[in-house]
Amino acid sequence: MSDYAYTGMDKEEIDTPALLIDLDVLEKNIKTMADYYRGKKGAALRPHQKGHRLPIIAKKQIVVGAKGVSMTSLGLAEYYVNCGVTDVLITSEIYGRNKIRRLCSLSKHADVTVGVDNVENVRQLAEAALANRTKINVAIELYMGMGSCGVEIEEVKSFAKEILKSKGVNFKGLWWHQGALGGIRSWKERKMAHFETLGEVAILKDELEDVGIGVEMLSGGYTCTWNITPEHPRLSNVEVQAGSYVFNDWCSHEIEGLEVFDYALTVLTRCISTPKPSQALFDFGINSCSDEATHDYHSVVGPKFKNLEGVKEVHQREELSMAIFEKPSREIKVGDVFELIPPHADTTAKSHDKYYCIRNNKVEAIWLNYGRGLF
Ligand SMILES: Cc1ncc(COP(=O)(O)O)c(C=O)c1O
Repeated sequence: MSDYAYTGMDKEEIDTPALLIDLDVLEKNIKTMADYYRGKKGAALRPHQKGHRLPIIAKKQIVVGAKGVSMTSLGLAEYYVNCGVTDVLITSEIYGRNKIRRLCSLSKHADVTVGVDNVENVRQLAEAALANRTKINVAIELYMGMGSCGVEIEEVKSFAKEILKSKGVNFKGLWWHQGALGGIRSWKERKMAHFETLGEVAILKDELEDVGIGVEMLSGGYTCTWNITPEHPRLSNVEVQAGSYVFNDWCSHEIEGLEVFDYALTVLTRCISTPKPSQALFDFGINSCSDEATHDYHSVVGPKFKNLEGVKEVHQREELSMAIFEKPSREIKVGDVFELIPPHADTTAKSHDKYYCIRNNKVEAIWLNYGRGLF
């Protein structure tokens, strides 16, 4: 089955609902980030891939300076390595005999580092690596409060010593994800909270190095700290796992204050009915456009219509949605297409098999979303 989309077709002709990338905006977002990091000693980019899951975007990020990539799932890491993106931090712990075997195999072909926070897991990784004649790179995940995996900072030194005793693994360093920072709206307060963590990490790094434990990798920070992490006075080369900046979504925009990155991802939808003057139905639903907020997956907030004022309410069902309007800024006619800015780009992107890449209102490329569903 095919929708017979082709490059060169008009955006309005694409079968809806459809996932669109505005290529000019995507390229601008990637450039804005890369320009800021060029020449910075304090930090480097290791962009997170869990949102778009597209190696072609990773390649664009690497070409302009990213030192590697990060992602949460082993399956996605395998896919990226197959596509030639070979410097990967897996921001998760890996369990299960078969997954560990897959990790061993991947370690033979790429510079892959995986998170650890448990001695038993390290033992499993080391045993499997030795049996498979390889070595697995590990980085200790630091505990960042409720919802985070990881080891408390005070326990890192003794854990690192245990890791060093294991022959099948190679200790690379430390990584962390302080997810709560995105919810701190004041940039000054967010900076204070982030610097507090970076200060603790700096002390920890010194303590480890004082006892002869080399810390090659320090990886923390993400889009909401993009212009904070590099400024820390004591640390250098901290890897910033920024992900959402490539597409952005309205929640990151409004909650995290990331207006500098524009909306590159939208969902194209068609009006299919106007049963009452103030009501219209559209062919999108939660199966094609997420409805939850980036930082609180329980809050239903819904998408926003791009370039359309006067939308009072949006009620999403699985496949269709109803919007209520009050003095809309453009006419709402059946058959017309509209674009939606999702509240959460990552969960929207994973609902589609393909991305339609648009420039000058035409389809310039179609990128198949092979990365979705890889775990
Ligand atoms: C471990 C880790 N690193 C980086 C990120 C990227 O965050 P953002 O997309 O806000 O840059 C996430 C997002 O959840 C994450 O879980």
